[in-house]
Amino acid sequence: MVIANERDVTASVLSEIERSRDARFREIMSSAVRHLHDWVREVRLTEAEFQKAGAVIAKLGQLSDKSHNEVVLIAGSLGVSALVCLLNNGEGGKRETTANLLGPFWRAGSPRTENGGSIVRSPTAGDPMFVTAFVADLDGKPVAGAEVDVWHTSGEGIYENQDPKQADMNLRGKFTTDAEGKIRFRSVKPVGYPIPVNGPVGDLLREQGRHNLRPAHIHFLIFKPGYKTQFSQVYSSDDPNLDTDVQFGVTRALIGRYVRHERERAPDADVQGPWYSLTHHFVIEPGEARLPMPPITGKAGPDAKPVSVVLPREAR
Ligand SMILES: [Fe+2]
Repeated sequence: MVIANERDVTASVLSEIERSRDARFREIMSSAVRHLHDWVREVRLTEAEFQKAGAVIAKLGQLSDKSHNEVVLIAGSLGVSALVCLLNNGEGGKRETTANLLGPFWRAGSPRTENGGSIVRSPTAGDPMFVTAFVADLDGKPVAGAEVDVWHTSGEGIYENQDPKQADMNLRGKFTTDAEGKIRFRSVKPVGYPIPVNGPVGDLLREQGRHNLRPAHIHFLIFKPGYKTQFSQVYSSDDPNLDTDVQFGVTRALIGRYVRHERERAPDADVQGPWYSLTHHFVIEPGEARLPMPPITGKAGPDAKPVSVVLPREAR
């Protein structure tokens, strides 16, 4: 089609999309093009702004590598990840769900660990923590034999993949639920952490005057054939940033009670001083069991730099 005016452009692109063989591809792409063109018209995007937007998108890809995924970070920072999660879980968004964001730090191949075992694989800062988690179906019946991956930060707020000091796969493990639908493990209490701000995500947050912190949490990935694979995160009820999570991930169902014990005896005899316990319940739904593509595949090199904290505008 020879283009006569700006309206013709949209019609021309949509007619080409109509030739696609896959009906879902046609639906997604034609809607995306309509919204994208409408957005350009609504804001009267200038040529300079268009070039800047292209450079931002290119940078998202250029900054992503085996230990960092800038695309996942910006999707979270714009709330898209939370929206996709809440529309696709809890029976299509009708009921509360224990599903949450996968996040950018899941790695495939976590070491299999016995129930009750420790996932601390090298000396790691943080208070001892004992976690018990239950997996049930929509009727409340325990789901036995589910594989549960867990991963979280150290007491310094750093994942092993970002930290050359931690052993490979430190604070990561794969457990299997028992007849009660239960897993148990020992670790150290995670603390909240800043997300990287050396790229477009940092520019976005600084422009908006937002901080770059996530509240402390433990990630879970629950897999069993016959059930929709569930990603989850259980947030620490004592964290000051529950209301302002930079990834918009905190839901009421996922604020966990991390209980501090000052005097009681810990489950393991070697624990001296205060320790924490956490018990949480997950509900999984019938559906497709499918592992996601790992957002990262390995550890950062020895020259990895610590991530800096961006203060919110009111604190600057
Ligand atoms: Fe995380």
